Formats: sequence, C-alpha cells, structure tokens
Amino acid sequence: MENQFLGNQHFNISNQVVSATCPSNIALIKYWGKYANQIPANPSISYTLNHCNTQTSMEFLANEPFSVQTFLAGNEELKFAEKIEKYFKNIEQYLPWILKGKYVIKTENTFPHSSGIASSASGFGAIASCLMSLDEIFSTDNHQPSVINQKASFLARLGSGSACRSLYNGLVVWGKTDEVEGSSDLYAVKYPDEEIHPIFKNFNDWVLLIHEGEKSVSSTVGHGLMNTNPYAERRFQEARDNFVPLKEILKTGNLEKFIKLVEHEALTLHAMMMMSEPAFILMKTGTLEVINKLWSFRKETGHPLFFTLDAGANVHLLFPENESSDAIKNFIETELLQHTQKGGVVKDVMKF
Ligand code: PMV
Repeated sequence: MENQFLGNQHFNISNQVVSATCPSNIALIKYWGKYANQIPANPSISYTLNHCNTQTSMEFLANEPFSVQTFLAGNEELKFAEKIEKYFKNIEQYLPWILKGKYVIKTENTFPHSSGIASSASGFGAIASCLMSLDEIFSTDNHQPSVINQKASFLARLGSGSACRSLYNGLVVWGKTDEVEGSSDLYAVKYPDEEIHPIFKNFNDWVLLIHEGEKSVSSTVGHGLMNTNPYAERRFQEARDNFVPLKEILKTGNLEKFIKLVEHEALTLHAMMMMSEPAFILMKTGTLEVINKLWSFRKETGHPLFFTLDAGANVHLLFPENESSDAIKNFIETELLQHTQKGGVVKDVMKF
C-alpha cells in the first residue's frame, strides 16, 4: 500500500528555501494506541484549529553532507534537530533526495511555547509541507496539488501520527473506517463538508492553559503502554463504533449527543492512562475543577459548553458561536480562568 508514495529516483537538487504554515488540531474521537510504522489502532477524527499554528522555513543546501540544524523562535534546538535527522533517515524511500544536503529549519509557534498545546501536529505538518515543496522543485515529474497534499499527510504521519490530520481544514479523519469513504490508516482525509450540519461549522475552542511545561509522560510512551493495557482492545472497538453515531450526529446537528460523545472520548483517553501499567495521570487539580464547574453551568443554564482533553492537563472548551456564546464566554472569563496556572487561555476557532 505504501508503494504509492515511493519516490522517483530521478531528481535534480539545488539550493532552496521553502516555507509553510500548518495549524494544530484537536481530536474528538481520539487516537491512543498504535502498531508498527505509525499505524493507528483505531480511526480518529479531529477539528483543525485556526490560530494555533506553526510557521516553518526550511533552507536546503544541496550536496553538503547531510545534517539538520533547527531553531525554535530564534533559539537553536539540538534535541529537535536530532529527532528530525532520524525522521528524515526514516523517510528516504519516499523522498530519495532527502539525505543529499544540509538543512537549516526555523520554526515559530503562534501559541506559547511549553503551553502543552501539541506542537508536534502543526510542527510535523509544516515540515512535511516544506518537504513536499522541495520534492516538487526537485522532481522531474509534476503532481496535482491533491496528490502532493496526500503525500504530505502520509509523511507527517510518520513524524507524529496526529500530524497527518493537520493537512486539511474542517473535520478530518485518520484511520480506516467503513463510515468514511476513502479513509486510510496511511494518511488523513477530509470529512465531507456537505455531511456536516452548519452548527458544527462555526465552533469555538478556547484552550485553558491549566499547566504549562513538560508533561510527565510523553505521548510516545503513552501509546506504548496501550500494548499491555487489558482494556485496550475494548477501547479500540469503542472508538471504531463511535463513528456510527457520530456520522448521524454531524449530519443532523444533534448537539446534545455530540457533547456526550466528545466528553466520553476525552475521559476515556484519560481513563486509559490511569489503567496503564505503570499508571499515570496527566490531569491536574485545575482540570477537574474546570470540568465540575462546567458541568454545573451546563446543567443550570442549558448552554452548550463542553470540553475535550488531549494528552495533557489543559482543557479545550468547545461551544458553538451562537446566541448563547456571549454568556458562555463571560462564564469562562469570570469562573474558569482562575484555574489556569498563569491566566493563560488561547481563544481559537475551528478552521473550515
Ligand atoms: O500524534 P501523537 O503521537 O502526539 O498522539 C496524539 C494523541 C492524542 O492527542 C491524545 C489524541 C489525538 O488523536 O490527537
């Protein structure tokens, strides 16, 4: 299957500078657990964000010995360079020119560094886009933009699984499911816009920065612990099954069922962490306080404010932009912001 992405051995390399911007994404049905070569244990679906993104410029110096130098917000990052070097060596069969030069990669994130917002999704998405721009310049044959983007998604996946979903706007699916035509374990596909009710197309995601700084357990380790988690198979099946009701919910605009499904997915992700061996907990006191307050608020007012979590303590507050959003925004500012470490909130919206 991967053969369709093998690179052409005929190429002409030259000194180049390319750049790309790639947004982050937040999963609704979560990817947690994988097989060899970044094959997901279950399909996942995410919203692509608008403001949280990574801008990357990549300078390629042809015919110099292979090396990678990386800068994050102007500061040299040796560990990141090592990771990228390894990644480039790993994808040589797909881009046969990739080890034939020196790279200087400069990246900037629009969201605060160490905020706990996954920079690997937007980061690898931007790097894969830059690589595909170079590939188009060096290749002797030209490709359709859709083919280029699909290969960018395929390459991003090999850097960080969830990154493959950042190459498309709107709702994006990664992982084979009969519920979504064309879906694949190898790359992400856009969930058809015409199958999505308008209420889901004008959505807010306000990220409360509950805990800024390094996570105690990386997602690489977390995915690995699913291999020995006795509940893993049940969880993978549940995620697969969740695509059936989700499809109906998205089409009919059933917000109530959407809220139930999305919050259940977030809590299941963290439940899996707690049931790993060794167990770990990434939520903090503030995470739980926010969830409890949010539930009371929803019960009392009926306003559709709900949450999801990624592999960290931060809370993604989700709500549609409609007649109740002013009341929701006011509640967040006055009641929830106090549970963040430094008053941090990133106000994002979904990108369609
Ligand atoms: O792409 P990774 O290896 O960083 O894993 C991401 C996992 C979650 O963010 C927790 C869920 C997801 O589907 O994005």
